Parts: sequence; structure tokens; C-alpha cells
Amino acid sequence: MRQIVITAIVLLQASVLLHKSTCDVVFLNTQEESLAPQPSSAPFTPSLSPGYRQGEHKQPSDKMRLVISLGASFSLVAIILVCSLWVFHRRRNLKNSGCECGFSRFLNRSKTLDKRYTKQGVAPLIDYSTIEKGTNGFNESNILGRGGFGCVYLATLDNNVQAAVKKLDCDNDEAAKEFKCEVEILSKIQHPNIISLLGYSTNDTARFIVYELMPNVSLESHLHGSSRGSSITITWPMRMKIALDIARGLEYLHERCRPAIIHRDLKSSNILLDCNFNAKISDFGLAVVNGPKKKNLKLSGTVGYVAPEYLLDGQLTEKSDVYAFGVVLLELLLGKKPVEKIGPGECESIITWAMPYLTDRTKLPNVIDPAIKDTMDLKHLYQVAAVAVLCVQPEPSYRPLITDVLHSLIPLVTMELGGTLKTIRRSASMDHS
Ligand SMILES: Nc1ncnc2c1ncn2[C@@H]1O[C@H](COP(=O)(O)OP(=O)(O)OP(=O)(O)O)[C@@H](O)[C@H]1O
Ligand SMILES: [Mg+2]
Repeated sequence: MRQIVITAIVLLQASVLLHKSTCDVVFLNTQEESLAPQPSSAPFTPSLSPGYRQGEHKQPSDKMRLVISLGASFSLVAIILVCSLWVFHRRRNLKNSGCECGFSRFLNRSKTLDKRYTKQGVAPLIDYSTIEKGTNGFNESNILGRGGFGCVYLATLDNNVQAAVKKLDCDNDEAAKEFKCEVEILSKIQHPNIISLLGYSTNDTARFIVYELMPNVSLESHLHGSSRGSSITITWPMRMKIALDIARGLEYLHERCRPAIIHRDLKSSNILLDCNFNAKISDFGLAVVNGPKKKNLKLSGTVGYVAPEYLLDGQLTEKSDVYAFGVVLLELLLGKKPVEKIGPGECESIITWAMPYLTDRTKLPNVIDPAIKDTMDLKHLYQVAAVAVLCVQPEPSYRPLITDVLHSLIPLVTMELGGTLKTIRRSASMDHS
């Protein structure tokens, strides 16, 4: 904008100068003529218009030129100003239409955010009695799952809205910090692959975070927990779609939010599934805004998912999330936990176990999760395995950016599920042959 205005001023000056210099030339010519009358035999000078040679035509012509010059200059400035205002307006509209804008709007208010949050918060404060009634007094039968800091309950709120309520005890300082961090971050971001915050609540002994309900609970429960072996099997196409959803959510956090958000606790229990098995990233209690610039961060995360450079040197970047994403991808492929017990007091990481198979095409199909074994195109399997191998590289700079991961997954997800893979329907005659 400033540049355009400066350009306009320069053009205006140039135009005025141009006008002046034209007048000067005309003036010189007239003087020359009057001071040194040309002899009648003087040769005709084609560079001078005959009009300027005629004294009676000189005055009106100068004025005319001045008027035309000024008119042209002002119209030029007016056009430039209108164009720049239009560009400025369009840019603002574009920003407002994207999710980046939601976050930049949040950043604009972020200077006052803490004060506002401690006063009454930016997310809706839900009356405690609504929470208590909605969870049937925190009834055991309403428990959706248990985490490190407490239980998550199914709740029916006003207008019959179903929600998930996470209860965190007040006497735990860590839980208090995570509560504040999660409510602050989730109240400012919005994306189809990030869990939505409906509100929060408190009473004398606990704090409550109210989320949208994810009826198919966590990915972990389907891969390793109570939902495994149930009537629902997460098929290969569903797994690819879940991986793509997670990559989309992470890409939003890393690339679209400014400053970037590093989740720091990406794991299969923090990937929640809605009624259509769309995946959303949850649990922002450990998330860090503008991570690389933050100092003295307490080492946090979950064993099996923490990147080596963060574990050993406290070096936290977006690549730490890419590492955790690689571990989740391995869980989806192999159906194994990130860390398995292999004997009394002895554990093995999925990476150590899987690496020899992931890099050997003849062995890989044999170690795939039995629930999906032989159900995928082998070419696709090798591609996903290659992505996983890159994501879990010990050296962070060798890991891809999540944007690159996202783009390598899109062609492996069917068009019906949001990717670009065309599904070839086998005809009945082919099935019988
Ligand atoms: N919005 C939700 N909708 C449905 N179920 C949920 C929701 N949020 C959490 N859950 C269930 O509650 C469980 C416990 O969640 P919580 O985030 O407290 O702990 P966690 O992620 O399992 O473990 P950790 O405490 O180590 O992070 C989840 O694994 C999930 O099954
Ligand atoms: Mg969780």
C-alpha cells in the first residue's frame, strides 16, 4: 500500500516536471525566435511545430498544456489510489475467508488475551449444574475413557446437545496448566481435523473442558483397545483417510497458524473419530505456540512418540510432531503399540521392531496388521511404509515437512474419502471369474 502511494507521488512529480520541461523548451524556442530573428533564407527546422513559431498561438497553447498535464496527473493519482484501495480491500477479504484469518484475528487480540481469559475466558463458560446434570452426576456408565488426569464423560447438555466432558482435579498443578493451555488454544483455532471446544466449567474441586462428542472415541481404542475386534474394523481405505486427516490437522497447526503450534503430544489416544470415522486431533494441554523460540520448556510427551532430539536435547520443532505422526502411521500399518513389552522389564519400540521389515518389500506384507492383511494394493503399502520411515528418521532435518507428507498421502486415499485415488469397481462377472 505504502509503495503504491509513493509510486503515485513519484509519478505526479514526474508528470509536473515533464510539464515544466515542455514549457521550458517552448519558452526557449520563443525567446530564440524573438532575440534572433531568423533570416528569411533560414532553412526550415522540422523539429519545431509551425504553431510555436506563431506568436499569437503561444499563450493559449501553454495554458492548455498545463491544464492537460495537471488533469492527467490527478486522474493518474486517482486511478492508482482507487486500484490500491481495491487491492487492499481484496487482500483483507481473502485473509478473512481462510482459517489463517481466524488465527490472525486471535493474534490481534492475543495481547489482551491473558487478561481476558483470567477474567472470564474467551470460550463459553458453562454453568457447573448443567455439567453435573448432563453427566448424571458423573455416573460411571457415562465414562467414555480415562486419561492421566481423570475421566472423560458423555454429557447431554441443554437442547439435547451431546458432548464429552473432561474432568481435571484442581489440586494438580500440571492439570491446571494443561487446562489453561488447552482452553486458550482451542478457543482460538478451528479446523475440520481439530477437536472443537464447546466450553469450559469449574467448581470448587475440579475444572471441566467440554468438547464436541466423538462417537467412535479414540484411534487407540480401535487399534489396541476395547474397540478392537468389535463389529467395526478399520479397513485399509479408512486407515489411509485417518492418516490424511491427521496430516491435514497438523498442517493447519504448523503451516497455517502464525505463530505455528506444535502439538507435542500426538498419539493414537489423542486422535478421535467422529460418527463417520473422520479423525480429529485432540488434547492441546501440552501444545506450544511459537515453540522453537520458547525456552525452559519442561520435557513432556508420551513414551514411544517423543522424538529423540527433543528427548535428549530438548530441541522442539514442528519435526517433533512429524516424528510422532510417523509412529501413528506405523500403528495404523502394523496394528502394534508404539512400545511393546517383550519380556519382564523389557520393552521394544515399534520403530526398532519394524525397521528391517519396512525397508524390505518381500517381508513387509507379512507383518501388516492381521485385520487388514492382503487387503491393499502393495504399491500403496510400500509408499506408506516409505513415508513412515522418513517421518521417524532420528535426524530431524531428514524428516519431511507435514505438507509434503500430506501431499504424498492424498493420492492414496479414495476420492469418496477426500483423496484423489480412483476406485476401480470390479464388475460381478469379474468377481465370479
Ligand atoms: N471428545 C471426545 N469424545 C469422545 N471420547 C473422548 C473425547 N475426548 C476423549 N475421549 C475418550 O477419553 C479417553 C481419555 O482421554 P484423555 O485425553 O483424558 O486421555 P488420553 O489421551 O487417553 O491419555 P493421556 O491422559 O495420557 O493424554 C480418550 O482416549 C478417548 O477414548
Ligand atoms: Mg487425550
